[in-house]
Amino acid sequence: MLDRAITLPEIEFWLRTTSDAMLWELFEAADATRRAAAGHAVYLHGLVEISNYCVRQCHYCGLRAPNLNLPRYRMDGEQILAAARTARRLRYASVVLQAGEDYGIERDWLAHVVRLIRQRVRVGVTLSLGERPERDLVAWRRAGADTYVLKFETSDRELYDRIHPKLAGANTERMAMLSLLREIGFRVGSGVMVGIPGQTFASLARDIALFRDLQLDFIGVSPFIPAPGTPLAAGADEAPNGAQVPADELTTHKALALARLVRPEALIPASTALAAVNPRRGRFLALTRGANLMLPNLTPPDLRPLYAPYPGRPCTPETPNECRLRLSKQIRQMGRVVGRRAPDRRGHQSAASTAPTD
Ligand code: 5AD
Repeated sequence: MLDRAITLPEIEFWLRTTSDAMLWELFEAADATRRAAAGHAVYLHGLVEISNYCVRQCHYCGLRAPNLNLPRYRMDGEQILAAARTARRLRYASVVLQAGEDYGIERDWLAHVVRLIRQRVRVGVTLSLGERPERDLVAWRRAGADTYVLKFETSDRELYDRIHPKLAGANTERMAMLSLLREIGFRVGSGVMVGIPGQTFASLARDIALFRDLQLDFIGVSPFIPAPGTPLAAGADEAPNGAQVPADELTTHKALALARLVRPEALIPASTALAAVNPRRGRFLALTRGANLMLPNLTPPDLRPLYAPYPGRPCTPETPNECRLRLSKQIRQMGRVVGRRAPDRRGHQSAASTAPTD
């Protein structure tokens, strides 16, 4: 059943299965697919949370604009470059510049920062900055950013609209923006939350089939975690009649394994949110069930507590060096190797990459 292109009803079947034997088969298939198509490498990309300002009001997210209790910050160019230099020194293949949807991050300013990172620091640049106008995206691609991540969260239009209030004057068509990103020449990342109140197994199955239709290069699959002070944490309507997707670790792993089956060559992170659900093992288990990327945090330690879309994010007193050593050791103990270069579209090591090797 898992040795050919998986169908939509099959995806839903696997999401619903509770049989240990079936789950074992699913996770084995995901791991074998990852091994064959994407190899042994676990890639490390340094996460830099460059701003926690956000104009949006997403019903699940602690960074939402109406959250007036949260002190806001925006890193300056020097801070971002310093983080990128740390990424280079630790041989991370890329930096991921992530923020709320913050128009204080100006087009030309960020293009300049991206250019400096590419030319002076020489690491890859992934952006995850929300829905931005085409001219911003074009400028950032020209400056040398290679990947853009915009999660669509759910392909269920009604649920999507309910939890993403529209913003006057701004694009709210994430699907359209994903095609645009491809046209502009980005590698395209997207993904979903698993267990949003109101999310059904059928709709999550459609999300996963969509990963294939969109030919995603990067797929983030995270459990929904209620964030205090947000509308969805206050208790929202769950889907009736056993159709509600649970927001737990196992269901997230099933979705992640299925993402691997539909996109064998993609970069799939063992997401930080999984560590929030299972601090000790969450991310490493994910690496045996389809994931092949980790995002060690390079945000300055004093800012990290302020970047809080959801609670329970791991906050260790480790330095970036200590974190790097621990991850290398844990990855080696799993019989895997640390990826030295960003993989290209087909998941192979890219000769064109400028990430350092050793
Ligand atoms: N639970 C899980 N993930 C969340 N995100 C935001 N809020 C939450 C939450 N409450 C994730 C979403 C979003 C990214 C910014 O963080 O996936 O895309």
